[in-house]
Amino acid sequence: MIKNKYNQVVWNKRIKKKRSSIFQEIGSSIDIDKRLYKEDIIASLAHVEMLSKQKIIKQNIKNKIKKGLKKIENEIKKNKFLFSKKHEDIHMNIEKRLFQLIGDDAGFIHTARSRNDQVITDFKLWTKSSTNNLDKKLNKIIKTILKVAERNIETIMPGFTHLKNAQPVSLAHYLLAYVEMFQRDKKRLLNNLENLNENPLGVAALSGTSFNIDRFFTTKKLNFKTPTKNSIDTVADRDFVLDFLFAVSVCSLHLSRIAEELIIWNSDGFNLITLTDKVVTGSSIMPQKKNPDPLEFLRGKTGSIFGNLFSMLTILKGLPLSYFKDLQDDKEIVFRSYDTLYNCISILDEILNNFKPNKNQMLSLANKGFVTATDLADYLVKNNNKTFREAYQITARIVNYAERRKLKLNELKLNDLKKVEPKLKSNVLNIFNLKNSIKSKKSFGGTSFNNVKKMITKYKKIYK
Ligand code: ARG
Repeated sequence: MIKNKYNQVVWNKRIKKKRSSIFQEIGSSIDIDKRLYKEDIIASLAHVEMLSKQKIIKQNIKNKIKKGLKKIENEIKKNKFLFSKKHEDIHMNIEKRLFQLIGDDAGFIHTARSRNDQVITDFKLWTKSSTNNLDKKLNKIIKTILKVAERNIETIMPGFTHLKNAQPVSLAHYLLAYVEMFQRDKKRLLNNLENLNENPLGVAALSGTSFNIDRFFTTKKLNFKTPTKNSIDTVADRDFVLDFLFAVSVCSLHLSRIAEELIIWNSDGFNLITLTDKVVTGSSIMPQKKNPDPLEFLRGKTGSIFGNLFSMLTILKGLPLSYFKDLQDDKEIVFRSYDTLYNCISILDEILNNFKPNKNQMLSLANKGFVTATDLADYLVKNNNKTFREAYQITARIVNYAERRKLKLNELKLNDLKKVEPKLKSNVLNIFNLKNSIKSKKSFGGTSFNNVKKMITKYKKIYK
């Protein structure tokens, strides 16, 4: 036996000259794709099971290979596996180790497959389980939001448009808006599983194989729905990667929106919330500072997550069929996006468990900016027989009147109002009460306390 035979690169009989050590060092992906070891072993087990069922390899060889693979899995789990850049990626590293463990019979494992189908199979399996991890993570953040919302059903704040006070809302209603977003994120992620659910294994390098394989068997074993239908497309396709990166990007965008909003609310100008010391950092020079760094971190990270989506789109743009080394980068991109989003959701969870609304300040801000003006216009339509446009004009005149006298709407007397609209009755004054305004928004999906309560009860049953 040649010394160190099993440590030679697979293609050593064809490519004789030593490869450039620079490319070996930089071009190898093992540091990244070793993360796929479990999936690689699961797929290999299904593959050899199928090869043996189809009598392409003997049963005793299958058993030997299976034993070897399980040993390798154990070694990796226990950190006893020596990953080597020389063998490029996780697939070759495992195959090489299999040779060391069981000898030349390991050579049967790569019958009727290629790394091209192997890598996508592994990657799809990983994407499936990681999608489910994110789904669970989103359940957790939704639960936290519901908990905070429940405590703040009657916390009144100004709802904004253009960051100008618009209409009063319940803080819980505002928070539930994010529940809707995160629910859509869950759906977006899970919807991808449908497209992703085709088994690539068995298309081999790009054209299929002459061996009498059974792709339906491995499909079942690996929990895919059907085998992919075109071998060339299969090895070239990274749409599932784009779908995943897009869903992750949108979710991250939602994180950055809530982060930005909380940063504004936490600013000294707004002062609507207080963050506990757990989720602020100090300044190296200004002793008084408590900065919302974790929130800024969330907002910032969205930038790199978007960047990852664009990296992948750019790699794929104009790439001829089928496999090219360009595609190897897909895993680093996806792992980075996944890890970043996963961590950012954890951070948001921590922040939501560590912020307090400054209820008085919220209420006092809600009392500025004539936020009940629309309520008055609606009142005029309902009680004074005005069209909405007429009511709008009258209300605008009343707002102008109050503004000139530096009064809030609820500080106006009936007589002030009558100067603009003589037919107004005294019950109009109830309209300027913020609580009444919120209570009146009973339309489905509106901010009335009752609506909000019902939504929280409904969602708490789903997210237990
Ligand atoms: N490490 C490679 C990747 O991630 C595996 C596929 C290699 N195939 C090839 N023909 N070089 O893309």
